[in-house]
Amino acid sequence: MKRILIILCVLAAPVFGAQAPSTLIANVSGRTTMSLNGAWRAIIDPYETGIGGKFYENRKPRDKRDLVEYDFDGSPVLKVPGDWNSQRADLFFYEGPVWYRKTFSYRKREHVREFIYFGAANYKAAAYLNGKKIGEHQGGFTSFNFEVTDTLRNGENFLVVEVNNQRTKDEVPSSNTDFWNYGGLTRDVSLVEVPETFVQDYVVQLTRGSLNEISGWVRLNGAAQTSQVTLEIPGAGIKKLISTDSEGFGEFRIPSKIELWSPENPKLYKVSLSTGGNTITDEIGFRSIEARGTKLILNGKPIVLRGVSMHEEAPFRGGRAFSQEDDQTLLGWVKELHCNFVRLAHYPHNESMTRLADRLGLIVWSEIPVYWETAWENTATLQNAEDQLRDMISRDHNRASVAFWSVANETPVTPARLTFLKVLVGDARKLDSTRLVTAALNHAVTSAPNTKTLADPLAEFLDVIGLNEYMAWYTKDTFEDIDRTKWTIPYDKPLIVSEFGAGAPFGNHGEAEAIWTEEYQASMYDHQIKMLRQIPSFAGMSPWVLMDFHSPRRLLPGTQDYMNRKGLISDRGQRKKAFYTLQEIYRGMMESSGH
Ligand code: GCU
Repeated sequence: MKRILIILCVLAAPVFGAQAPSTLIANVSGRTTMSLNGAWRAIIDPYETGIGGKFYENRKPRDKRDLVEYDFDGSPVLKVPGDWNSQRADLFFYEGPVWYRKTFSYRKREHVREFIYFGAANYKAAAYLNGKKIGEHQGGFTSFNFEVTDTLRNGENFLVVEVNNQRTKDEVPSSNTDFWNYGGLTRDVSLVEVPETFVQDYVVQLTRGSLNEISGWVRLNGAAQTSQVTLEIPGAGIKKLISTDSEGFGEFRIPSKIELWSPENPKLYKVSLSTGGNTITDEIGFRSIEARGTKLILNGKPIVLRGVSMHEEAPFRGGRAFSQEDDQTLLGWVKELHCNFVRLAHYPHNESMTRLADRLGLIVWSEIPVYWETAWENTATLQNAEDQLRDMISRDHNRASVAFWSVANETPVTPARLTFLKVLVGDARKLDSTRLVTAALNHAVTSAPNTKTLADPLAEFLDVIGLNEYMAWYTKDTFEDIDRTKWTIPYDKPLIVSEFGAGAPFGNHGEAEAIWTEEYQASMYDHQIKMLRQIPSFAGMSPWVLMDFHSPRRLLPGTQDYMNRKGLISDRGQRKKAFYTLQEIYRGMMESSGH
């Protein structure tokens, strides 16, 4: 019987979501998988000849007259996971189609379904298994999977994926960014094996506004919809039977005495969900995060966020970061700064990054790349952004570390933009009522001498306001101006200063008044933080940026050389003066807050 994939598309449940659910399989690392990482043959195809050439057939000439103008076996190798730009100097600037091919052998088994799972592919991906199209995806930073149960063979298989990172103004992000457009299969690719009916996705979190009730849902995928799922949290003495309805959806609420997750005590519990003899396990922390007036409240107590912003760029080797090692180095530096918070800019970072933040006790701001100018009036662009938001939330909605969903960064104040972003804010709330919705705003006016006022209608719709300001870097202000400046933020909401900063190549020393010197950068931190902490609604900050990173917009020879130099650490791991300035300030804040 042709196996019918029944993906449950009903989210009628009053509490959780109203949008077509993500088709993402949650917590793949907790399932039976076969890695497809490693060396893949790759054809660089600037004119996308491969579509007409049917490269997905992976064909060899049948006879001496058969014209086949491609040959994966004779083509160079690209490593997966990994972007192509940092793997080969001749591809550093390459933006366009690349065809990847992986051959692998597999033994099929009864009552097992198989999916191909991609951690991410930048930007557009079309996948073919054994010459048959299995699916396509757009968005460079969200995970996706395709069922291949009926396409997979017993024995030899070949998987061909066309990845195209061409930029256009209608995409998300649009065509202008201050970060490198790394292309490729940038995260893990794996074959996932699941039973005929399996737990596809689930939420196990503290109920919104509660410290002693766990609630959530499970969603089954497969024929046996009306089933029972057993939720167990042995460390909390919890064992609960959840009945799923005809849509395979089941909800639960469990009064519970639970040890709460926090930066000082990043407590994680082993959680398992079993159905039909199949069990999936996860590590989940339980914490509540709220905005009460201008205060951020973690587990019922006010908290001030000591943070830093960072890109998902690999230290030392450059390129898109993807490995546990990359993540440990980056978040290790964040902890070294005495941070309790990190802004993962400007797109969802890899899953092992947020799982590591869970373990290290770092609160996370996660963002979709609605960045600068975007095609606000284009409904396809909006759908694309909604899909990326849904999939970002679906992947990380069990991460205690993730407290903020950000729907945009530095977008122009126009009616079309407001309409666009209000849809995303609404989606985020429907999809996840337990976290706070924010965005990084940068529209400030000088409302009086030495007075700056944030003026952005979007702020009305956010739970928490993000502010990016670059006084004395992109403005002619001096440090004295900063010292005299008062900010008014006319919203009774917590304020996170999501960006400020200055550029300085490591080792460039000089007067504290001279830009590009480490002294100027360090001074910037001193003056900015004094000014910002006076703002009544100040609830935290994430200065720009942890580490120097590649940018196609940074062209000053000998100083930038395609690098944004606002890092507190160089891309070679060298700590600049400002690193120690911020570290000292955060040590002081930590000691005075007692946490
Ligand atoms: C912007 C933007 C960043 C950028 C930074 C900079 O605010 O959000 O992506 O890199 O400023 O100019 O360095």
